Amino acid sequence: MTTIIHNISKLYTADIHGGYGAVWEIRNPQIVIQDGLIAEIINDPKTSPSKSAEYNLDARGCCVLPGFVDAHTHPVFWKSREQEFIMRLGGKSYEEIAAAGGGIRNSAREFQKAGKEKIKQLTAQRLRVFLEYGTTTIEAKSGYGLSVTDELKSLEIIAELNREQPLQLIPTFLGAHEIPDEYRNNRRDYIKLIVEEMIPQVARRGLAEYCDVFCEPDVFTTEESRYILTTAKRYGLHNRIHADELHAYGGAELAAEIQAATADHLTHITAQGIIALKAAGVIPVLLPLTTLFLRQDTYAPAREFINQGWPPALATDFNPGSSMTQNMQLLWSVAALKMGLLPGELLWSTTLIPARSINRAEQIGSIENGKQADLIFLDIPNLDYLPYHMGINHVSMTMKKGKVEFNKNW
Ligand code: NIG
Ligand code: FE
Repeated sequence: MTTIIHNISKLYTADIHGGYGAVWEIRNPQIVIQDGLIAEIINDPKTSPSKSAEYNLDARGCCVLPGFVDAHTHPVFWKSREQEFIMRLGGKSYEEIAAAGGGIRNSAREFQKAGKEKIKQLTAQRLRVFLEYGTTTIEAKSGYGLSVTDELKSLEIIAELNREQPLQLIPTFLGAHEIPDEYRNNRRDYIKLIVEEMIPQVARRGLAEYCDVFCEPDVFTTEESRYILTTAKRYGLHNRIHADELHAYGGAELAAEIQAATADHLTHITAQGIIALKAAGVIPVLLPLTTLFLRQDTYAPAREFINQGWPPALATDFNPGSSMTQNMQLLWSVAALKMGLLPGELLWSTTLIPARSINRAEQIGSIENGKQADLIFLDIPNLDYLPYHMGINHVSMTMKKGKVEFNKNW
C-alpha cells in the first residue's frame, strides 16, 4: 500500500548532520509512504513521485513534524489525585504529602482495589489523548501496583494495550517506586520481593524492556537502587533511574556507574554528575512540567548539559501526582520559557534523543527514508510558533506507521 502526502507547507525534522539543535526544513515537500514506512521525501514540488499512489493524503497546508516520543510516563493508575494538588496550593510539599501516607502509596492503595479491566479502559482513554496531542510513542512505567500481582497487572495492561491500540508503548518495570504501607517497618522484605519475585517473573514473561527505581532520600537509597537495578540487568532489563529529583543524592553518579540507559529528572544534579553521565553515555531525561506542577523554582540545568555537548531528552512525566498532562506542546512552551531552549533544540529533545533513549532511533524520532511514518500535522505557520502560542493543541492530524489515527476534522 502506497500513500502520497501532498499540500504540506513545511517539513521539520532533526538534521543529523548539523548536530543538536539543527533543523532540516523543506518547503512544500511530498512524502511517499509504503507499508507504514517513509519511502521517499520529494523536495521539489514539481517532481512527480516515482511510486504510483494508491492513496493521496491532503495535508491541508499544515507543517509536518515527526511524532513526539515521550520517554518518561506513568499512565497506568486508577484514581486521580487532585486533592494533593490543592494541598500543595495551601503550602504542603510533595514530600510532606508522601510522608503522611499520600502520594504514590495513595495511588497504590486504590490500584490494588481496582479490577484490571477497569484500569485498562481508563488507561486506553489516556493513551488516546497522547495521540491527539501529537505523541506517537511513549515509554510507559508500572509502579502503582507495589505487590507482585499488581505490578504484573500493570505491565499486562501495558502489553495488551500495546497490541490493541496504535500508540506504541515501551514497557518499564517500576516496582521500586515506593515502599508500600505493609512494608514500612520492613523495607528489606519489600526489596527482597522485588529482586526475588517481581524481576524474575517480569523478565521470564517478557513484560518489560527496562527497570526503573525512584532513588531519593525516604524512598530508595543509592545502595538499594544499585542492588535492584544491577539484579534487573542480569535478567536482561536495562536501567532507567529517577535521580536527583528533590535532592542531590548521587543518583546521576549511580546511573553512570551502572551504565543506565537514562537518568531522569536531574533537577539537582551536580556539575560532576553531568560529566559522569556524558562519560558513561547515559541519556539525561529532563521533566520541567513536574517542576512547574510541584511549584518548585529550580529547573534542571538543560543549558549546562547542552554546553557540555550532552543534550537531554525532554518528557512529560505524565502521572497523577506530580505531572498530570500528556501534552508535549505545553512541554515545548515550558522548556522554552523556563530553560531557555530554542525550537530546534526542543525538536531534537522531544523526537530523536528520546527515541535513542528507548533504543528505537533506527525506527522512529525523525523523518527519514526507511523509518516508520510516524508523522504529525500541525496548524502552525512555522516552528517558532509552536512554543509561542502556548497551552493549546496545534495538532490537526496524527499518523502512526502510515495510518491516520487522529484527525481533528473527523
Ligand atoms: O516521576 N518520582 C516518582 N514518580 C513520579 C511521581 C509519581 C507520583 O507522585 O505518583 C515522578 O515524579
Ligand atoms: Fe516519573
